[in-house]
Amino acid sequence: MHGMHARLPVNFVLEERLERYADAIEISPTSYRGRWAEACWPLGDAAPGDWPDGIAGSTVEPGGWPALRKTLARLGEDEAAQTLHHAAAFREVRVDLGCGKGAFIIESAQREPDVLFVGVDAEPLCIAYTAQHIMEAGIRNAVAVPAAGNALPRIFAPGEVACIYLNFPTPYPRKREAAKRLVALERLFEYRDILATGGTIRLRTDSQPLRDFYLTQLKLAGYRVVHLSEDERAAHPDDPASEYELRLVAQGAQVLSVWATPGPGPAPEHVVQTASLSLVDYLPDDLFAGRYVPHGMQQTIVNLRNRKR
Ligand SMILES: C[S@@+](CC[C@H](N)C(=O)[O-])C[C@H]1O[C@@H](n2cnc3c(N)ncnc32)[C@H](O)[C@@H]1O
Repeated sequence: MHGMHARLPVNFVLEERLERYADAIEISPTSYRGRWAEACWPLGDAAPGDWPDGIAGSTVEPGGWPALRKTLARLGEDEAAQTLHHAAAFREVRVDLGCGKGAFIIESAQREPDVLFVGVDAEPLCIAYTAQHIMEAGIRNAVAVPAAGNALPRIFAPGEVACIYLNFPTPYPRKREAAKRLVALERLFEYRDILATGGTIRLRTDSQPLRDFYLTQLKLAGYRVVHLSEDERAAHPDDPASEYELRLVAQGAQVLSVWATPGPGPAPEHVVQTASLSLVDYLPDDLFAGRYVPHGMQQTIVNLRNRKR
């Protein structure tokens, strides 16, 4: 009984937050598939006279971006695409998958206003925070999408995404949870389908076991590694930091990174998983003795050290 009462306000606050920041949340992202760069272009910044034919004065009331998006939702997909044919568009679309509370896309969006940043997270509270931060910062080139990682092919068309950021993805170290990892083979095939030519997946993690598992999956899915660093902060000192990077670096983590791009030619067929699925199999022999233990593996390491003794 007590538990029920205690939970009500929490849910209420979440609903209220999602409502309040709804203009920065896209709840039917599949309807934008193939036209994110055009549909999210912030016409609100342009003078009404600059608006494309068919939108200026007629279909959209001044009110900018949210108003335009509502109009697009009303119009059919073809009509909307036609209407926007002559409109400007974002230079490219990038996805922050598992965006958390949004610090990374907020900073990224401010630095590159001609790029659209789509923050995707499966956790509604994270989406509420990301949307809040987008709106409070007055950002027009970022949007929050509540979705799971395996939904990307339904949200983006082939070739639509220039970059997928995977910042500190949840490691799910156990074998039976391996399919949930955003770096699992199945996901890598899906990412291949939506990446533009020359597009990249950029992983940043504190976890050497997750990184090494990822390298096996990249190879199986036919990707080419274009950048590998054991100290990404030093390699790209000016890149924005995510919440987890700040938090884990303060605890002693080093940021490991892998950038990969689909290899030339079509995706490999009939691929069989040959890699070990438990992250325990990627641990160093000394079990990180005297060093930083990756997030999410502390208990595993304690147990293994006890067993060794
Ligand atoms: C460790 S946090 C990292 C958050 C942020 N990227 C950062 O670096 O601060 C992992 C995030 O991924 C999200 N997540 C985990 N599995 C996911 C999945 N299958 N699809 C979408 N989001 C997922 C979680 O909700 C969480 O917000």
